[in-house]
Amino acid sequence: MSGMERFAGRVAVVTGASSGIGAQIAEDLVRAGMVVVGVARRLERLQALAAKLAGQPGRLEPVQGDVSTTEGVKRVFKWVDDNLGGISVLVNNAAIAAFTPVQDQDPADIERLVSTNFTAVMVGCTLGVTSMKKHGIKDGHIINVNSIAGHRIFSVSEIGSCVAYASTKHATVAMTKGLRADLQALKPAGYKIRVTSLSPGAVYTEMLPDAFAKMVPEKEMILQAKDVSNAALFALGSPPAVEITELTIQPTGEFM
Ligand SMILES: NC(=O)c1ccc[n+]([C@@H]2O[C@H](COP(=O)([O-])OP(=O)(O)OC[C@H]3O[C@@H](n4cnc5c(N)ncnc54)[C@H](OP(=O)(O)O)[C@@H]3O)[C@@H](O)[C@H]2O)c1
Repeated sequence: MSGMERFAGRVAVVTGASSGIGAQIAEDLVRAGMVVVGVARRLERLQALAAKLAGQPGRLEPVQGDVSTTEGVKRVFKWVDDNLGGISVLVNNAAIAAFTPVQDQDPADIERLVSTNFTAVMVGCTLGVTSMKKHGIKDGHIINVNSIAGHRIFSVSEIGSCVAYASTKHATVAMTKGLRADLQALKPAGYKIRVTSLSPGAVYTEMLPDAFAKMVPEKEMILQAKDVSNAALFALGSPPAVEITELTIQPTGEFM
């Protein structure tokens, strides 16, 4: 069976599901029939999304969690294992932005940035694969929501330096590629876990600074969260023998 139908009734975990891209992906997975664990700190946002999606083929399970600590990430995965069982789809999406030049960063901010944008993704991948192995889920799929900032360093004077943020996204690109290589070791046991790095250009969300939106000449030159979610579901819904390893999606004509 191919397409999203094979994931119906199965468990997905989406971090950062309280707004923007994560909220849209969580919504679209629920509409596709999945049981989606939506993770974020703002529980009331998750609860509102769950209420909005009542009556859809799947459901949203709001789980309050802070992925900026390893303990926080572990708590989320333990809750899923205790309450729902194995994970078929993991979308590591939660992140924070940073626009301060590296030399001016507060060390505590650097630590928070790296732990939220990178450590949580790597630990999430580890615990996600552990869950798949424990529950014999051989066709699991991990999507790491990345950025074009994971592929090149650029400077946008209107909003400040993106270097610290881009560093975490570059690290995520490297780790995602490496994870795919490491997962080859599970092939003899029949595991065909797919891994996708999804790299959007600018998207209209709470993360996008107003100054950036103002400097773009046409409104269409910024993506909508729905565009990114469509790309995620394209990767997920591809036939099991097709692995979309890197998917870059930018507004047509984006200057970056
Ligand atoms: N917007 C863009 O232009 C753009 C472009 C390229 C890539 N991206 C990537 O897309 C992904 C989603 O970003 P977005 O644009 O949708 O931003 P957003 O609307 O600000 O959403 C970020 C999400 O991450 C969650 N989050 C942040 N820190 C967290 C923590 N410590 N623990 C748990 N959840 C946390 C937030 O929830 P709470 O605050 O409720 O915890 C929120 O749900 C990110 O990986 C981002 O780097 C965005």
